[in-house]
Amino acid sequence: MNSPGETASALQERIIARPFAIGDIVIDPPVVLAPMADVTNGAFRRLCKRIGNPGLLCTEQISTMALHYRSQRTYQMFDWTEEEYPLSVQLFGANPQVMAEAAKIVEDRGANIVDINMGCWVPKVCRQGAGAALLRDAKTALKVVEAVVRAVSVPVTVKMRAGWSAAELTSVPLARAFEQIGVRAFALHGRTAQQGFEGSADWNWIADIKEAVSVPVVGNGDVRQPEDARRMLEATGCDGVMIGRAAIGNPWVLRDTAHHLRTGQRLPPPSLAERLEAALIHVQDFARTIGEERAVRHLRGQLPLYVKGFAGASAAREQIVQATRIEQVRAILERVRQTAETEN
Ligand SMILES: Cc1cc2nc3c(=O)[nH]c(=O)nc-3n(C[C@H](O)[C@H](O)[C@H](O)COP(=O)(O)O)c2cc1C
Repeated sequence: MNSPGETASALQERIIARPFAIGDIVIDPPVVLAPMADVTNGAFRRLCKRIGNPGLLCTEQISTMALHYRSQRTYQMFDWTEEEYPLSVQLFGANPQVMAEAAKIVEDRGANIVDINMGCWVPKVCRQGAGAALLRDAKTALKVVEAVVRAVSVPVTVKMRAGWSAAELTSVPLARAFEQIGVRAFALHGRTAQQGFEGSADWNWIADIKEAVSVPVVGNGDVRQPEDARRMLEATGCDGVMIGRAAIGNPWVLRDTAHHLRTGQRLPPPSLAERLEAALIHVQDFARTIGEERAVRHLRGQLPLYVKGFAGASAAREQIVQATRIEQVRAILERVRQTAETEN
């Protein structure tokens, strides 16, 4: 709501949620769910879409080598539905031909955007020369990007960290070169690969890349609440914000961020009942893809986050590590509701 007497230009000032486009795909609101391995599967993405309605959802990173060797587990990651569009499918790998082949496969399966991972720092990925390892191997990185851009007609984007280490900040020259080849947007996590998740994200690196390229830049790193997103947009001039960890067990942060960027206001937090319902929908939807027991086991760490901060949450966290059935999860969550009611 605008306050009485507010001028049109002051209102304009306050509203910084401008949509942007990646190729011909409009990202509105300019809030993006980050790709997260073992988290942003179809069930979670759909929940985020329904609750948070971000402008773009990203899949978990998909191994192009595993696709090449027809791994059934990897094909299970093709679990998206049109409800999630626009959707970015993230690939990792260091072999240009294999990456191109995979990009074509995911495009044929309906990906709206193909994203290349140059941010993952975990040894399993970097040992193959993929993920953030590409930040220190410009020759291969350029070949990979070129092959993928050539293979598909949907927009290709790159998600990167600022560099391998503070002594090797390569993202700016790489981004310039990738833009020349046809990359249509970048996401920059303001840390180096060597940092992992240590320290805090340096948003200056986002500003640097924004200044260096003319395609959109999505800023990422340590956006925990709506006000952080506004500060990031203002401080860096980036076109959108990408939210990762803060959305785990809390898809409302996407909704709240978009609302805050649009209006400067905060929405009231979700009720405990809404949180419990979301946790159950999450596990039920995931069970439809991978089976009940696997879904419950997989989400043991994530489901308690829906009730974090409520009385009974730590008991729920302890109990859920034994659960293998949705009914058990339901009973554990029901106890959180009862505990919260008795405490009030
Ligand atoms: C559990 C987890 C899994 C992740 N998996 C991926 C991934 O598959 N691909 C990727 O580019 N980044 C991945 N990331 C990094 C996030 O996309 C994001 O860059 C990082 O968490 C910083 O954003 P945040 O501070 O909003 O969490 C992952 C992060 C987490 C916490």
